[in-house]
Amino acid sequence: MKCLYRNLLIIRDLHTCNTLSRQVAQNLKGKKHSSQLWIMRQCQDPYVEKAKQENYRCRSAYKLLEINEKFKILQPGHVVIDCGAAPGSWTQVAVKLTNASGKTDDNVGTVFGIDKQPIYPIEGATLLGGMDFMTVDSQKNLLKLLKSDKVNVVLSDMAPNASGIRDIDHENIIQLAYSAFKFALQVTQKDGTFLCKIWDGGKSQQLEKDLLKFYKNVKNVRPQATRDESTEKFMLARGFKGIKSTSNSTT
Ligand SMILES: C[S@@+](CC[C@H](N)C(=O)[O-])C[C@H]1O[C@@H](n2cnc3c(N)ncnc32)[C@H](O)[C@@H]1O
Repeated sequence: MKCLYRNLLIIRDLHTCNTLSRQVAQNLKGKKHSSQLWIMRQCQDPYVEKAKQENYRCRSAYKLLEINEKFKILQPGHVVIDCGAAPGSWTQVAVKLTNASGKTDDNVGTVFGIDKQPIYPIEGATLLGGMDFMTVDSQKNLLKLLKSDKVNVVLSDMAPNASGIRDIDHENIIQLAYSAFKFALQVTQKDGTFLCKIWDGGKSQQLEKDLLKFYKNVKNVRPQATRDESTEKFMLARGFKGIKSTSNSTT
């Protein structure tokens, strides 16, 4: 009975889906229920369609675009690090907004993207695919590429594979956020920005408090493109205060 109801829902959803062709519907056959739901959700999602039309590699682009629209964090000439960059839509947005490909007469920016997964090339960006950001070697590689340039914006959209167990997923994404945060402390220039994704939970408040030790203000942002059922939110930390080095100067 439950199964019949589920199939009826799929058939109903199929009728309201504009982009799914008959062929795709055929492909739903034999797929796990969770995969069928994922396909259905994708085909009903306006951001998926928009991303296709505007040549972004995925719908996440609209989260960064919305945050930037509101807070103007990315400017031409900025140096940006994008952690968890694959498939690449945030990097595409960063390249465009910093003019990293030099397409306009504005200042030319620099964008680095890093991910555990391979990343197909993006004009104007330097990409480190197949690299785990949590390892010392990956971070050393990034530092080498940066030479001693200071960074304006560190982005982290890194997310672990979700287990479905809320506390574990929260713990894992918080670890990724802290790793990006610690790296940002080493490379960010004064007044710089840090933006990271988390799945909300018991350690969110502590992260916010820790960010406030180093940044003038921290905002919790939930863009419209975040799916309703998700606990996802972004912490936007602005106005990096700098770190006192042993010689008592600030970075
Ligand atoms: C939500 S996706 C990022 C989407 C990306 N911002 C975009 O717009 O295309 C999360 C990414 O985090 C990456 N990731 C997770 N753990 C990582 C790690 N330890 N090091 C590097 N990347 C990691 C995943 O491989 C995945 O590609």
